[in-house]
Amino acid sequence: MRIDVVTIFPAYLEPLGLSLIGTARRAGLLDIRVHDLRDHTHDRHRTVDDSPFGGGAGMVMKPEPWAAALDAVVASAPAAGAVPHLIVPGPGGVPFTQALARSLATEPWLAFACGRYEGIDERVYEHASARMPVTVVSLGDYVLGGGEVAVLAIVEAVARLLPGVIGNADSLVEESHEDGLLEYPVYTRPASWVDGAVVRDVPPVLLSGDHAAIAAWRHEQRVRRTAARRPDLLARTATVSGLGDLDVA
Ligand code: ADE
Repeated sequence: MRIDVVTIFPAYLEPLGLSLIGTARRAGLLDIRVHDLRDHTHDRHRTVDDSPFGGGAGMVMKPEPWAAALDAVVASAPAAGAVPHLIVPGPGGVPFTQALARSLATEPWLAFACGRYEGIDERVYEHASARMPVTVVSLGDYVLGGGEVAVLAIVEAVARLLPGVIGNADSLVEESHEDGLLEYPVYTRPASWVDGAVVRDVPPVLLSGDHAAIAAWRHEQRVRRTAARRPDLLARTATVSGLGDLDVA
């Protein structure tokens, strides 16, 4: 998968050289290119923002550098006619979910436009939409200082779904948000941990070797945890899976 990111803070994206994503890049599974929006300005101060028409607080990102930067990304297409799906992170977007991550993971080319300040001049969305699919995506109902952190989150969620990026594909099943339930608690050695004055034991069923009992316990833990932390998810899945019958008090 190819990923282009346009930002005024390229250094913000440096974590994309680490861990799973860094390894995937070095293996040739991911081609990530980060571009500085200011390279598409032509004044001495490399200006990317200006005050909003109509008044109001803050600054708005100017259209011309954005149009030039996005045009340059499109002009670098790997094949004639290919365009990226442009993702613009913003609090006014569609919610980012595991389902959206799965959908984006099927695309060959994503581009991200990182807004800052009060946002990007609306005409940039018109310019981009005339050339490529554009989706505004929100991480959640809160306001970040800009799109860069959202890009890190979205790229990580998408990249780990790409074939070959995670060594053990089994890690991808029974995860939170894959089937509407949160994941079960996990434990490793020691089975009995002396934590100062307290001895903390692993739930005995996990040491029993009884795979059916372990699966049943894990499922119950998932339901309880979802009821406690995300009752909204349980309400959505209860009818289809019969979980509504379970006493989760
Ligand atoms: N930029 C600012 N706030 C954001 C949010 N909640 N999600 C995605 N991008 C953002």
